[in-house]
Amino acid sequence: MQEQSPKINSLDAKDKAWSGRFNEPVAELVKRYTASVDFDKRLAEFDIQGSIAHARMLGKQDIISKEDVTAIEKGLNEIRQEIRSGTFEWLLDLEDVHLNIEKRLTDKIGDAGKRLHTGRSRNDQVATDVRLWLRSVVDDVIAGIRKLQGSILELAEQHVDTVMPGFTHLQVAQPVTFGHHLLAYFEMLQRDAERFADARKRINRLPLGAAALAGTSYPIDREFVAKELGFDEVCRNSLDAVSDRDFAIEFTAAAALVMTHLSRFSEELILWSSPRFGFIDIADRFCTGSSIMPQKKNPDVPELVRGKTGRVNGHLVALLTLMKGQPLAYNKDNQEDKEPLFDTADTLLVTLEIYADMLRGIKVDKTNMRNAAMEGFATATDLADYLVKKGTPFRDAHEAVALAVRYAVQQNCDLADLPLQELQKFSAQISDDVFGVLTLEGSLASRNHIGGTAPAQVKKAIAYAKQQLK
Ligand code: ARG
Repeated sequence: MQEQSPKINSLDAKDKAWSGRFNEPVAELVKRYTASVDFDKRLAEFDIQGSIAHARMLGKQDIISKEDVTAIEKGLNEIRQEIRSGTFEWLLDLEDVHLNIEKRLTDKIGDAGKRLHTGRSRNDQVATDVRLWLRSVVDDVIAGIRKLQGSILELAEQHVDTVMPGFTHLQVAQPVTFGHHLLAYFEMLQRDAERFADARKRINRLPLGAAALAGTSYPIDREFVAKELGFDEVCRNSLDAVSDRDFAIEFTAAAALVMTHLSRFSEELILWSSPRFGFIDIADRFCTGSSIMPQKKNPDVPELVRGKTGRVNGHLVALLTLMKGQPLAYNKDNQEDKEPLFDTADTLLVTLEIYADMLRGIKVDKTNMRNAAMEGFATATDLADYLVKKGTPFRDAHEAVALAVRYAVQQNCDLADLPLQELQKFSAQISDDVFGVLTLEGSLASRNHIGGTAPAQVKKAIAYAKQQLK
């Protein structure tokens, strides 16, 4: 759809939808302040879709004539084309997308156009439009999440047994495989996709028929409209249908969680790509240089994902706050739902897309990862477990290993570098088989259960994840 700014022109008083009630025209500034067409014209396709379904229902129920329905459909289809081709003239004077389209329809087809709004209000109309739009966004979001999960799996598959240090408190904790680390994000995104699929059920309900707030006196058929529009159900209470935006809040909350997950991931990519870590290299097409420091290669994309998370979290708070003070039923406050919602969808969708692509451009420095895992006494827990298996109570084993680590720190070496006799000073139960457990590979392989980091388990986890993506 082509972008155009709405024209500000003064319509004849008779063309305003509610002119009869007023003694003076709306102030210019108020007009600008209250109009939403600038942003809600984005709903046009869905508005037309909803209007066609409504018109067909009115015809089927003999509320308007079949000829009117035919004229309305034809007119709306033409308007859709005008909007798509960018020739449609949006007027700020007509406030929002709904009135702009309705006025154009009336200009085109006369009285039949004026009958379209029978048994309907902009209140149930806008709620319907937003739900239709959001439903299609949710489908795109789920597809985007799937794509990203796919590239996580691709990368994980290449690193089933690549060793890296696992961290707690950002201190080297225990060795893990890089594949295992990546699969943690697969899991987060898996729950995110579930959340959207679940939210979709509540989005996909039809408000139309609620009219302004109390329903309508015409013999409407809401089930018919729901079916036409692919809604699973109709909203069961007219006051609720036109006023609550919890479905939009839920969507935004789910979006904020995806962004939060990707923000965590980004934080890691940023750290790992810094020369201090040197674990990964992010392809140049996702980075920028510095205007002053010639040596710099900055991980802009992950940094922006982290930054944009703040923006989406902000939209969630905006929507919650928008809702909290509203008495039933519709209030104009709700017009403010659109910009945060649109921006949430745009930010999320583009982030998912760029992320899936960025992961494909990541190169891993296995040597640096491995060296880092060697440095931080990452197998100390394995030594404690070794002593436990030889009969030492865990707390005593923990203490013995802590002393050994302290000693190794003083000697500026790793546990595995200490000669057997020195290790034996910390526990008589240590014998020469200890070096097997002090290796990174031994440590990894021993964590061989569902959810563990052993390469054999990571392979299984990838196979399972692939099943889930199908
Ligand atoms: N532009 C309005 C919105 O976004 C449409 C509904 C207006 N309804 C009304 N009674 N003023 O919410």
